[in-house]
Amino acid sequence: MEIKKQRYFLIIYLTINLFTLLVNAEFGNSQPTISSQKRHFVLVHGAGHGAWCWYKITTLLQSDGHNVTALDLTASGINPRQIRDLKFSSVLDYVQPLINFMASLKPKEKVILVGHSLGGLGMSVVMERFPEKISAAVFVTAFMPGPNLTYITISEEDFSLALSLLRPFPLFTDEALVLKETKLTKDKYGSVRRVFIVCDQDLTIDESLQRWMIERNPPTEVKIINGTDHMVMFTRPLKLFSYLGEIAEKYD
Ligand SMILES: *[C@@H]1O[C@H](CO)[C@@H](O)[C@H](O)[C@H]1NC(C)=O
Ligand SMILES: *[C@@H]1O[C@H](CO)[C@@H](O)[C@H](O)[C@H]1NC(C)=O
Ligand SMILES: *[C@@H]1O[C@H](CO)[C@@H](O)[C@H](O)[C@H]1NC(C)=O
Repeated sequence: MEIKKQRYFLIIYLTINLFTLLVNAEFGNSQPTISSQKRHFVLVHGAGHGAWCWYKITTLLQSDGHNVTALDLTASGINPRQIRDLKFSSVLDYVQPLINFMASLKPKEKVILVGHSLGGLGMSVVMERFPEKISAAVFVTAFMPGPNLTYITISEEDFSLALSLLRPFPLFTDEALVLKETKLTKDKYGSVRRVFIVCDQDLTIDESLQRWMIERNPPTEVKIINGTDHMVMFTRPLKLFSYLGEIAEKYD
């Protein structure tokens, strides 16, 4: 009986390894992760996108046992509000679904935030408001404002973002309001550990702009995905997933 059991487990073990080998052969050095730490990932899309853009990453993370929440920000994805209903200049109005979600977490509950592109701005806003609920904030080729680097300064550096939008999107034109709403402090925002994932072939937020933000607002860690464009969650989902697995292990 015991030997049968052992054989059974050996077969399962070998099958899993064979599968892993095949997947690795297909996807190069992107190793699928098996995380020992199960976390809650909250995925924040970029401008003009919605929760839908994360479907590959959501599936991979869930199959690895993590809890995953992919949100639609206001007037994004299938969120029923339309841009024309938004108070055009308010970042807080745009980011409200994420703020509501963070506020709904239980007192001791912590999440790993993952923001893509302009999603980095919304993520920063909640880092300032809920720093104690965030194990790590992952900026995937994303806007990364900081206490000493405002959204306005970054967007002045960026020329191609506005051209790449899929769904019309508020450009936060009231500078004074935006600066007030997105004010970040060293004590709160600055207390959250940040990882920046650089994508070197990004033509929307190009590598030099990513490096420029990293230099002015240094994160805890920088990871690189070479040979990939802005939409890394479509083009290199396994590599991104494996990095998120490493982050799940390292940041609690
Ligand atoms: C996932 O997170 C949600 C929202 O915080 C929570 O209600 C749910 O219980 C969590 N699920 C698991 C399996 O932990
Ligand atoms: C803030 O940014 C300015 C301009 O980029 C720079 O000169 C200054 O050293 C920065 N201060 C800190 C504390 O990083
Ligand atoms: C990415 O490419 C750069 C420059 O070619 C190289 O130095 C770096 O090691 C590469 N990084 C990864 C993670 O592949």
